[in-house]
Amino acid sequence: MLVLAIETSCDETAASVVLDGTRILSDVVVSQMEIHREFGGVVPELASRKHIEAISLVVEEALVRANVTPQRIEAIGVTRGPGLIGCLLVGIATAKGMALALDIPMCGVHHLHAHLFAVLLDRPDVVFPFVGLVVSGGHTSLFHVKSPLDIQLVGKTRDDAAGEAFDKVAKLLGLGYPGGPIIEEVAQGVDPGSVRFPRALMEKNNLDFSFSGLKTAVLKRVEGLFEVKQRNDRSGSFHPLVPPVRLQEARNEIREVAAAFQEAVVETLVVKGLRCAEKYASEKLVVCGGVAANRTLRRRMTEEAARLGIEPVFPPIRLCTDNAAMVAARADALLAAGKTDDLGFGALSRW
Ligand code: KG4
Ligand code: ZN
Repeated sequence: MLVLAIETSCDETAASVVLDGTRILSDVVVSQMEIHREFGGVVPELASRKHIEAISLVVEEALVRANVTPQRIEAIGVTRGPGLIGCLLVGIATAKGMALALDIPMCGVHHLHAHLFAVLLDRPDVVFPFVGLVVSGGHTSLFHVKSPLDIQLVGKTRDDAAGEAFDKVAKLLGLGYPGGPIIEEVAQGVDPGSVRFPRALMEKNNLDFSFSGLKTAVLKRVEGLFEVKQRNDRSGSFHPLVPPVRLQEARNEIREVAAAFQEAVVETLVVKGLRCAEKYASEKLVVCGGVAANRTLRRRMTEEAARLGIEPVFPPIRLCTDNAAMVAARADALLAAGKTDDLGFGALSRW
């Protein structure tokens, strides 16, 4: 089946044409990162407007690159949620318009299920059932993927997502946005020495995550280091605490804090991911989402998994971050099982 898919849940406008859920004919992603960088995070209203500006061009480009006319598309998949409501609506409205005009079926896709299905685009040999860890800016979730139509959420974060913690801590340290790649770079080759931050909910059998205590521990450490106090912010988000000049002077301390923070996140993800794979007797642990780009996570997960005879599977980075090819892969599985949505379906900010 030739599926056109659309993804607009956050700050990437993406469209893709995929054949039979496995062959990517085109995969177009327009990122708004530069626009949101100056605000230190995604601004929802701005993101929706940018999706409106980009969506037609992105869909057209996906069709051109796939070398297909709209009339050859057999079905449409679109991210229904979870995500930013205004952003989701842009993709859904476009999908509905096209499905109506072309008189073809359409289906709404769960964004996190799409992340899990990204692995099948790269590794069709990954068979069901398997365990998957989706670790991104908005989510840190563990799934037992029993079959394409039976995906159970078995663990999730109780507060911040791992990527969100990277972004907030980078902001706090005055390092910029998005935080993940910057913290990874700053922490590169750094031994955190005596700096050690707490790991939350590590008790046996617990598959949930919590990163807000870690974020606060970093805040306290930085406050102590520079003898400053974070001003009260009702939004709950952090601001750079320290003037850039002093940060430059304290480069080594900042690098140690970044390394200790990264270590705490990575250890938590490795322990819980592998615990989950063991619990469900899964030979493979699929790790996807933007944070799966982290090289320390990849290395540590690979080392620890080997001890347990588990194979960690990381899709290529391009398929880890938000894209529409994964939405097409997921939609293909749903459509093949006769799961379609009519024009009445709406966006779900939480799902
Ligand atoms: O999956 P994604 O592209 O978007 C969604 O949130 O859905 O993930 C973005 C997140 C950001 O929080 C970013 O800081 C984090 O992934 N990230 C990383 C790395 N690259 C991106 N976190 C840690 N290490 C990285 N190398
Ligand atoms: Zn995502």
